[in-house]
Amino acid sequence: MRTKIVAGNWKMNKTLQETETLAAELAAKLPDTEAEVIVAPTFVNLTAAVRSLENSTIQVSAQNMHFAENGAFTGEISADMLLDINVEVVILGHSERRSHFGETDDFLAKKVSAALAKNMRIIFCFGEELEDRKSGNHFNIVESQLKNALFNLDASAFKSIVLAYEPVWAIGTGETASPEQAQEMHAFIRETMAAKYDNTTANNISILYGGSVKPANAREIFSKPDVDGGLIGGAALNSDDFIAIVRAI
Ligand code: PGA
Repeated sequence: MRTKIVAGNWKMNKTLQETETLAAELAAKLPDTEAEVIVAPTFVNLTAAVRSLENSTIQVSAQNMHFAENGAFTGEISADMLLDINVEVVILGHSERRSHFGETDDFLAKKVSAALAKNMRIIFCFGEELEDRKSGNHFNIVESQLKNALFNLDASAFKSIVLAYEPVWAIGTGETASPEQAQEMHAFIRETMAAKYDNTTANNISILYGGSVKPANAREIFSKPDVDGGLIGGAALNSDDFIAIVRAI
């Protein structure tokens, strides 16, 4: 069966000291849970987060990586650099990377292959913009994002991939998809996976919902059968809120 996961994307927030404080608070407050709990601090604070969480079950993820092994890519970080500091999980395809930094499906396909080649685990994000939803094109968009970035892979690769459906109109806006909208899309994603691969692959993949998940709405969203957890932005920056969301799962 698939795992339940709550992941916190800290984005460009938290200084070194704030990272250590938040990590220590999370480690101290983490309830007994079968869910996996993951946090993704900014690159420069990954080492500190790994150290602060070494006696905890909370895993540390990067927010991004480059596909090249090494070389002339100013400002970029490779898989080997992450693995070297014991970071084995990476978020790829976040909508902020797509919209502010021009990351395309083709570019992301290269990153996915590079991460898999290094046995990293990937939280792969995708989701439609508001216009797509308004025009009823959201299913097509999501299907094409999956197809273009992931459907060149063998079914076995999905053991190392977690999907994160994040409708762009719900990220950081305070507007969440309703639990029904999330369930409808998650079921569609699972059907799309089953049609391309097989039922086992579709049933075993964890599909997270992301976009304004808060303590107040987490339980209802997580209660939906095809929602296997959440990728949390704003509410991951406060230990009480994040732990309340972990409890909700
Ligand atoms: P949010 O961000 O929870 O602040 O909406 C979610 C995300 O971008 O992963």
